[in-house]
Amino acid sequence: MQSPSPSPLLPLSPSAPKAPGPPDYYLLKNLRRAARDPVGFYTRGWKSYGDIVRFHWRGPFSAYLCVHPHMVERVLQANWTNYPKGFFYKRLSIFTGNGLFTSAGELWLKQRRLAQPAFHRAKIAGLAGVMAQTVGEMLDDWDAHPTKEPFDLAEEMMRLALQIAGRALFGTDLKGEAREFHHLMNVSMLHIERRFNPLTLPESVPTPQNRRFLKAKRELDAWILGVATQRRQNGEKHDDLLQMLLDARDEETGEAMSDRQLADEVLTLLVAGHETTADALAWGFSLLARNPEARDELESEAKVLNGAAPEFDDLARLPYAKMVFEEAMRLYPPIWALSREAKEDDVIGGYLVPARSTVMVLPFLTHRHPDFWDEPERFDPQRFTPEKVAARPKFAYFPFGGGPRLCLGQSFAWMEGQIALAMIASRYRLELAPNQTLEMHPSLALRPKGGLWMTRRRI
Ligand code: HEM
Repeated sequence: MQSPSPSPLLPLSPSAPKAPGPPDYYLLKNLRRAARDPVGFYTRGWKSYGDIVRFHWRGPFSAYLCVHPHMVERVLQANWTNYPKGFFYKRLSIFTGNGLFTSAGELWLKQRRLAQPAFHRAKIAGLAGVMAQTVGEMLDDWDAHPTKEPFDLAEEMMRLALQIAGRALFGTDLKGEAREFHHLMNVSMLHIERRFNPLTLPESVPTPQNRRFLKAKRELDAWILGVATQRRQNGEKHDDLLQMLLDARDEETGEAMSDRQLADEVLTLLVAGHETTADALAWGFSLLARNPEARDELESEAKVLNGAAPEFDDLARLPYAKMVFEEAMRLYPPIWALSREAKEDDVIGGYLVPARSTVMVLPFLTHRHPDFWDEPERFDPQRFTPEKVAARPKFAYFPFGGGPRLCLGQSFAWMEGQIALAMIASRYRLELAPNQTLEMHPSLALRPKGGLWMTRRRI
């Protein structure tokens, strides 16, 4: 494999050569293969052509896959203004509108500044109690329903994460509505997943699938705006994210956020904030089940909790839980691919990336780059000791993206992951159900294919 060591700040050189890649006449074959097995397709491209690969994409345009950490840094940070979000995010915006994940330019900057304070570490620290309480309720429910039968841990983690996100956002309990809410989210996310296929019909065509999606979206919007209206009317102040969005005023006009923008932001936070963490937890437990030494270490660390729910200050006593979460996201990064569209010509790793190219960076591949990770396929949480982290380039590991569009909910997710791993491991041992394999379903997020069936045993 070629392994150039490009600087992220290389100057532009118009005479830069074309990056290596499969011949152009493979376009259709490439598109079909990429759609069938995207992770395998990009992995083979990387192994065959090196750290930057050019794929003929559509019409005169190409897609570039960039794997080396310095190339990733160039795209996400050093020259980020040249790489706005493109096609995939437009598709997602059918659901989340102009929320933070999909918006761009002035609107994005304004909204990001507005939401940022709610995600400061100090604010997030206050949510440790809500997280621990929600995990504790799930474990009490497991206690009340002892079973030897396999259950779908991926689904269970999804419910848990949605409940935590709901409580943190609304300060109220989604419990009663959780099932319905979960269902509406699923219908919507499935629709978006299908819409990544460019041959699907737009929402303006009333197909049964489009109608189902639009109904689900209407109901979700109505629910969010219902909670918002209630708050505005009764004047009660809450200490949660929704309140911050409601109280926000435009610096110039003094106007409050429109209902449309408010619903987009809340939906964005729910979407971005629950499936990602849930998948990371599910992968984490599947890896622990296959690596009993690591599982034993986590169980023994979790004993410091003495059966009590952790507070924010306890997190410092759970370093191994954090390293397990980090390592799980190295091997199975929930957002496994990020894509951008080049505005102007650029040079990456010594190769020309022309304007209007699609540029892909895949945490899934960079996290397995053998120049930065020994035995990349092996699960080993010890890779994340502070010394080892400091010895690697920053973008060798980027499960939360990077640069100005870095994940807003990073601290929230770290805390939730650490708390859930430690609390679950302190009470239950999870084993993979017979025949359960670790196959991936790479959609918007990287899910375990067909769920993750495990058994649980009270420790
Ligand atoms: C393990 C859990 C999580 C992972 C792996 C994850 C990953 C990511 C990644 C990779 C991006 C950047 C996407 C890109 O640049 O194309 C992102 C953005 C974002 N994430 Fe997360 N995320 C997680 C949890 C959360 C949570 C809990 C929240 C909120 C409660 C959240 C809210 C957001 C938002 C709002 C953005 C857009 C930020 C912007 O563009 O300004 N995420 N996330």
